[in-house]
Amino acid sequence: MSEGQSRAVTRLFIAPTAPSHRLLDAAVRRLRFAWSYLRWRPRFAAYGFGSLLESPVQITNPRFISIGRGVHIRSGARIEAILTTGPTPHLQIGDGTSIHMHFHCGAALDVRIGRNVLIAGRVYITDHDHAFDDPDRPPVQNNTLLASSTVVEDDCWLGEGAIVLKGVRIERGSVVAAGSVVTRDVPALSVVAGVPARVVRSIARTGDLAPCSAPS
Ligand SMILES: CC(C)(COP(=O)(O)OP(=O)(O)OC[C@H]1O[C@@H](n2cnc3c(N)ncnc32)[C@H](O)[C@@H]1OP(=O)(O)O)[C@@H](O)C(=O)NCCC(=O)NCCS
Repeated sequence: MSEGQSRAVTRLFIAPTAPSHRLLDAAVRRLRFAWSYLRWRPRFAAYGFGSLLESPVQITNPRFISIGRGVHIRSGARIEAILTTGPTPHLQIGDGTSIHMHFHCGAALDVRIGRNVLIAGRVYITDHDHAFDDPDRPPVQNNTLLASSTVVEDDCWLGEGAIVLKGVRIERGSVVAAGSVVTRDVPALSVVAGVPARVVRSIARTGDLAPCSAPS
């Protein structure tokens, strides 16, 4: 598109479930929630009712992972709490967060994802790197990790294939564009894009947002 040219954008609303199916849907959903809760609650540090974790899924050390209520994690996820000689790892996903296919998240120290975060497919969130400064030990043989807390606050949206690297805080209500790599903190209500991700604009919101739940 040439400079100055603008695209027509149509505002659409996702259709609700057809009324005739609502009762059946609700019953099936409650059964799925109950099965998911019975299956996963004993294994995780916390697992809220109303959450779904779709198979296949690869979970490492779920006893250090907390999943809130009404969280939906679609198939192909790899979610890891990595044990080290340091503090126990902590990985938290807040109420109402929705995560699409092939999510990868690794916490060697502390990853916190807030409430009502929308995470598209193939997103990666990490709080660590492998050390690569020892010429005698390549990263695959080097058991040293460099870790720093990573936080995604409430109401954010991470677009398809976004990557969030260690030590980053994405403040509430922000949007990470598809394919971006976030290497620095993102201020609240910002859109960031690119590699490395830079603020491309701020988001003007009319209503007040509820208080943020992500721990500081
Ligand atoms: C970020 C996004 C939401 C658009 O937001 P927007 O505020 O309307 O942004 P604009 O389209 O006006 O673009 C603003 C700037 O960011 C750039 N930009 C937008 N998306 C980008 C991306 N994914 N990567 C790199 N740059 C991007 C634009 O080129 C533009 O740059 P310019 O000002 O130099 O021309 C959209 O581009 C996007 O990435 N959507 C994600 C879709 C997705 O993952 N869906 C999964 C469903 S869960």
